[in-house]
Amino acid sequence: MKILPGIRPKTWWEDFWKDPICGYGDPGQTLPRFASEFYTDLIKPNYQPKAVDIGSGDGRYAVALAQIGYKTDALELTDSGVDRILKLAQQKNVQVKAEQGDFTKLWNTEKNYDVVISAGLVEEIDPISHENIIQGYKNWTRVGGYILLKYCLEIAGRGKLIERGLIPKLFTNEKWKLIFWEEGTEMHPSRAKYTTENGTDSAVMTGTLVAQRLS
Ligand SMILES: C[S@@+](CC[C@H](N)C(=O)[O-])C[C@H]1O[C@@H](n2cnc3c(N)ncnc32)[C@H](O)[C@@H]1O
Repeated sequence: MKILPGIRPKTWWEDFWKDPICGYGDPGQTLPRFASEFYTDLIKPNYQPKAVDIGSGDGRYAVALAQIGYKTDALELTDSGVDRILKLAQQKNVQVKAEQGDFTKLWNTEKNYDVVISAGLVEEIDPISHENIIQGYKNWTRVGGYILLKYCLEIAGRGKLIERGLIPKLFTNEKWKLIFWEEGTEMHPSRAKYTTENGTDSAVMTGTLVAQRLS
């Protein structure tokens, strides 16, 4: 895998998910823990809460949400990623509806998911579109629903990718309740399962945000 320093084109991600070695390991526990907590409030007789994982990759978070009980969709830029999502869902014996799509083109549509989860997408998008991506997550969340985000402020060899404090700032208004938010100040080893010769992608500085749409 040739490691590119900047924003990675679709062809790079296609090759990435075609290679079975490539991936990010098991999902972190923080977002699934929140999703699990919310599920107990969201589930109603004859109603199965709906979730979407945006920039789903191999579907590790989509599958985690389906395992909790959510009716889960996954949106992923690449066909090879979609194949991996369907394969992982089958292995874990859950249903995930995976679709190929580009969120930079879909962000301005309206959907009504109970939970929108997205891990590792914002930093892969040109900074000029970061606010659109966050607005897109909001557009896809119903009133009363939740957004769960994991992002990298910085990745080794790729520099600073997201402006510190930008994402939480976009949730500090009367329409949103910030439930959990933290941005790290130090690099830590990444969960990436591939190795690089020059250390690129080996360490990350991450942020996590969980918010509820109030109106
Ligand atoms: C760092 S990976 C994270 C994958 C997954 N969420 C995870 O946590 O393992 C970023 C993913 O975003 C996808 N992606 C990049 N740009 C995208 C876009 N414009 N729309 C949808 N997905 C995109 C890539 O193909 C890749 O699968």
